Amino acid sequence: MLDLVNDKVQDESRQGEAYAPFQLDPNQYQKRFYIESYGCQMNFADSEIVASILNQEGFGATRNLEEADLILINTCSIREKAELTVRKRLTEFRKLKRNKKGVLVGVLGCMAERLKAQLLEEEKLVDMVVGPDAYRALPGLIMEAETGQKAVNVLLSRDETYADISPVRLDSNGVSAYVSIMRGCNNMCSFCVVPFTRGRERSRDMNSIVSECRDLFEKGFREVTLLGQNVDSYYYTDEGNNAVNFAQLLNTVAGISPLLRVRFSTSHPKDITDEVLYVMAAHHNICKYIHLPVQSGSNRVLQLMNRTYTREWYKARVESIWKILPDCGISADIIAGFCTETEEDHQQTLEIMEFSKYDYSYMFFYSERPGTLAQRRFKDDVPEEVKKRRLAEIVQVQNRLSFESNLKDIGTTCEVLIEGDSRKTDKDWKGRNSRNKVVVFPKLDHDLKKGDYVTVKISECTQGTLLGHIVK
Ligand code: 5AD
Ligand code: SF4
Repeated sequence: MLDLVNDKVQDESRQGEAYAPFQLDPNQYQKRFYIESYGCQMNFADSEIVASILNQEGFGATRNLEEADLILINTCSIREKAELTVRKRLTEFRKLKRNKKGVLVGVLGCMAERLKAQLLEEEKLVDMVVGPDAYRALPGLIMEAETGQKAVNVLLSRDETYADISPVRLDSNGVSAYVSIMRGCNNMCSFCVVPFTRGRERSRDMNSIVSECRDLFEKGFREVTLLGQNVDSYYYTDEGNNAVNFAQLLNTVAGISPLLRVRFSTSHPKDITDEVLYVMAAHHNICKYIHLPVQSGSNRVLQLMNRTYTREWYKARVESIWKILPDCGISADIIAGFCTETEEDHQQTLEIMEFSKYDYSYMFFYSERPGTLAQRRFKDDVPEEVKKRRLAEIVQVQNRLSFESNLKDIGTTCEVLIEGDSRKTDKDWKGRNSRNKVVVFPKLDHDLKKGDYVTVKISECTQGTLLGHIVK
């Protein structure tokens, strides 16, 4: 559990590590690119757009760094630690670049946006710096870099959504895929660098989202996760002036097939509507799981964070979820030790965790980010050892809540979508239930495959996994 601290990784199969693409048809391409992604799911989805653009340019993906003509690193700036990890990786690429002439190294994503041309100065062997809205410019930037010039494009856009680009699925299990529905963020949470690195919020054309999801289903995928920094504020107006909100989008995607599971992330407590909850209730295939970051349980801290809700409001949203969706799992993001946080504020965070009975949380200690409202306005005054102690207490409460939630499932049955072999043995399948809990069970003689749905009876659990056996 502790490896989750300070490293937001939402998919356990990708936990703690960057991923690299599978090999495409080796004869199809003249050149090879290698890409590593860090940070949020959005970055992983963006790397699939980059892969699509590069395929068009004659670059095939490789997992083998040594074979690459182009090395890309899609970066995250959310906490200092994320940036330090990328810097360390860049020094490793540096050695490769020295040994192989002509290899280009490019920094993509949030760090590119935050540091801009400065990154070329600091990391001498970086050839390209490309912000999250500039991926269409990659072919031109590569040409520029090939001539020995440093290539930079960090322009943010008000309307880029890459709607027409069909992502190339990288390192996919062939069952679950991310589908980006919007970009950027208009909230100004005072701790957060995202509005500065990913720009203004914009929603993607609903038709392109629905056709991407349908296409995935036809290719055999059985689960889509609709991604945005704040999905509840999705709002798209088409040429005929017809407006679509998130509830309507969700309803349409769920209508593609009852066999296509639909998930989404992230919801904002100030924006999630009962309309969304009712759409979830109406469709069996919309997973009963909501990621609802709380950040803090103290009204005073929430106000400093500019979260624009109170603890009472948050609790009322949780109660609505339970009323409309009695079996819905809830998870959260929590920050320990934000500016001025007192022991009493911290206790209120522990209290709201107990109230909300989170299945799971992503827990961090506050890391001041340059340029954010908090950095400009407040002093980062909670000592590091206090932040770490509070974080450890938060982690401890969450570990108990996760275990208690899993214990409750013993003896029940649930529908599981098979995602592949369990991590430990190829004699067991691993999948998730609607509530996003990982379920592991023996394959036995059943004739099943990835992408199949099975009913599993839960007989045991650990803090992170349910264990059971197939009943149907
Ligand atoms: N320090 C610590 N955690 C942060 N997050 C965002 N910015 C910071 C920061 N400066 C966390 C929030 C957010 C998640 C994606 O990362 O909890 O929801
Ligand atoms: Fe950052 Fe807040 Fe936007 Fe999330 S909602 S990306 S925490 S500014």
